[in-house]
Amino acid sequence: MAIERGNAGLKGPRHTTIRTERLLLRKPRPDDAESIFERYASDPDVTKYVGWPRHTSIEQTRSFLAFSESQWAEWRAGPYLIVSPSTGSLLGSTGLEFETTTRAQTGYVLATDAWGRGYATEALIAMRDLAQTLGVHRLYALCHADHRPSARVLEKGGMTFEGRLRRYAEFPNLGQGQPQDVLCYAAILDFPSGTPEGNTP
Ligand SMILES: CC(C)(COP(=O)(O)OP(=O)(O)OC[C@H]1O[C@@H](n2cnc3c(N)ncnc32)[C@H](O)[C@@H]1OP(=O)(O)O)[C@@H](O)C(=O)NCCC(=O)NCCS
Repeated sequence: MAIERGNAGLKGPRHTTIRTERLLLRKPRPDDAESIFERYASDPDVTKYVGWPRHTSIEQTRSFLAFSESQWAEWRAGPYLIVSPSTGSLLGSTGLEFETTTRAQTGYVLATDAWGRGYATEALIAMRDLAQTLGVHRLYALCHADHRPSARVLEKGGMTFEGRLRRYAEFPNLGQGQPQDVLCYAAILDFPSGTPEGNTP
């Protein structure tokens, strides 16, 4: 993909669908609410370590979809659903959340039956490539300090460990009631991916 610098996430065509080797990533639609709710957003196992409260009503899922629309209205990318290209069934979600025109955060959530196949890593690499295409200089992700599978995904996806942020964030579904330590991983995308200059801590 051609890399445009300067326009960052604001100008130019929106990337509403992305195809990877085994996955289709697409912009969420209003009629996705039920499947998002049922497949992962209401599942206690999936939501244990996420930063948002587990959905207990479909209205919370609709609020997420409204947030997604607002992100897509402002930027050239936003939340994506991860679906099976052959069946169209929902596997999970990922996305880019822009904080400035050159800095974005990413993350990933999969339904339990999609765990352990490398899908999160594949989705992360797609988000990293997209971020670079959109002129993002710093792509980062945070995960709970005890969440080894997520940290492993970030390592496999070429993100560099930057440090442990102590007592940084509350995790609403853990019920601990106080901020927890998180691990911060980032990719610096100023250089073509794969060059060492681009990812030195
Ligand atoms: C975390 C999550 C995204 C991982 O997705 P996935 O597609 O199963 O991840 P991958 O298959 O790409 O890789 C997982 C890696 O973690 C490793 N892993 C799994 N459990 C582990 C453990 N307890 N300790 C260390 N590594 C572990 C796997 O072995 C694999 O690494 P490997 O390929 O070197 O063997 C998925 O479990 C999920 O959606 N969980 C719920 C939502 C969530 O927590 N999202 C992240 C919020 S920060």
